[in-house]
This record gives sequence, structure tokens and C-alpha cells, in this order.
Amino acid sequence: MEIIVLPTPADVARTAADAIEEQVRRGPCVLGLATGSTPLGTYQELIERHRTGGLSFAHAQAFLLDEYVGLPSTHPQSYHSVIRDEFTASVDFAADAVHGLDGMAADPQAEAEQYEARIAAAGGVDIQILGIGTDGHVGFNEPMSSLGSRTRIKTLTRQTRQDNARFFDSADDVPDHVLTQGLGTIREARHLLLIAMGEAKAEAIAAAVEGPVAAICPASALQLHPHVSVLVDEAAASRLA
Ligand code: F6R
Repeated sequence: MEIIVLPTPADVARTAADAIEEQVRRGPCVLGLATGSTPLGTYQELIERHRTGGLSFAHAQAFLLDEYVGLPSTHPQSYHSVIRDEFTASVDFAADAVHGLDGMAADPQAEAEQYEARIAAAGGVDIQILGIGTDGHVGFNEPMSSLGSRTRIKTLTRQTRQDNARFFDSADDVPDHVLTQGLGTIREARHLLLIAMGEAKAEAIAAAVEGPVAAICPASALQLHPHVSVLVDEAAASRLA
């Protein structure tokens, strides 16, 4: 694991964008995209480089990490909508190159299995962007998720629903269930880019990076991966030894 501590969130966003740009400029590739607040600066940076620096995503594919169950893809808080509005619609991905889980699937388990097959058919993820929850989740693998888990339906903890209430009218409107890539699925990506900013993430980052590999902190599973870059600002790094 390389841990890169940067002075500000803007530096974190630029450094994450550098890693993605390098991958994209190398040729056709598969990106793993997270939603939430954390990667927004990175996406802004990539949009800017597309507009002014000729960075093209025309030969890239993308797979989303997760999706709320029960929200149609047209709902403004579905991760389909969020990633389109915050990133993919502002660059030049080919039509059908951005893949997400269907939160309205009648059979969520079948949807999860098909999603795994689609990732495999694309050749696997080259670089996966990850945020981290205050409880140490990655994707929506909440504490006590199996470290080898595959894409499946999960129940959100009360903590995560409270954390995500800011995107909805109230915590009660946050769906209870999600479809998420599993920790085993995420660990198959060839390069993991874990990003965190702010004091609220400091404890989770310390547990993920310096704690034992244990299901109580799902992000600690990343310690088992051979190529992980952890990009944090000073505040998120403040509990590291
Ligand atoms: C989102 C995701 C989640 C978030 C995490 C942090 O696709 O997989 O693991 O990365 O909940 O959320 P923010 O970035 O909003 O603090």
C-alpha cells in the first residue's frame, strides 16, 4: 500500500485524476467509478482535462461500484443519475460504455451475478476509485461483510443511512438496501485508488491502513491487494501513526 498524504482536498483530487489520466492515455481501459462526495473533485478535474487538455474517454468503459435498491435509474439520487450528472455526461464515453447495477431488478441476485459476468467480459477493472465510509465500508460492504464477498444485495447500517441523508429529504428516504460489488470483486481490480478527505474519515483511514485485516473494518481488506494507492489530505491522515 502506498499512502500519499497531500496538503488539501484539491491536491488529492488532482493526484487521483493524474492516476486515472495516465491509465486512460495508455489505451482502452476499464474504470471503476465510485459515487458520493469524495470523488467529485476528481471528476471535476477529469472533466476539465477533457475540455482543455484533450483527455478522451472514447475508448474507456466504466463500471459503477454500487446502486440503491428501489430507486429507478431516472431518480436523481440513483447512482446511475449521479455519475451521469457529475461525470460521465460531461466527457466522451461511448454510448453504453458506462455500466451500473439495476436497483429495480426483479431478481437482485441474478442482477448481481450478471454484473460480475459483465465486468469479467470487459476484461476486469484496471483502476478502481474508492471512497470510504465513516464505519470503514468500501462500496457498500458494511462492517462484518465477508472479505471475499461478491456482488450482492446488502442492508445499509443506520450510520450509513444517516451519513447519506444529506442527499435526500431525510434519513427515512435513504433506501435500506443496496446492490454492491463485494470486497472480493473490488480486490480483483488491478489498481485500487482509495481517496479520503476530512477529519470525519480519519479514524476509518487509520483502521483501514494500520489496523488488523478484519471484517469489522471492510476497507482493511485492501491491505491484501498488491497495488493500492491511498490518497488522503492532512485531516484524513490525522489519526495515522
Ligand atoms: C459510493 C460508495 C461508498 C462511498 C462512501 C463515502 O459509490 O461506494 O462507499 O464511497 O460511502 O461516501 P462519501 O464520499 O459521500 O463520503
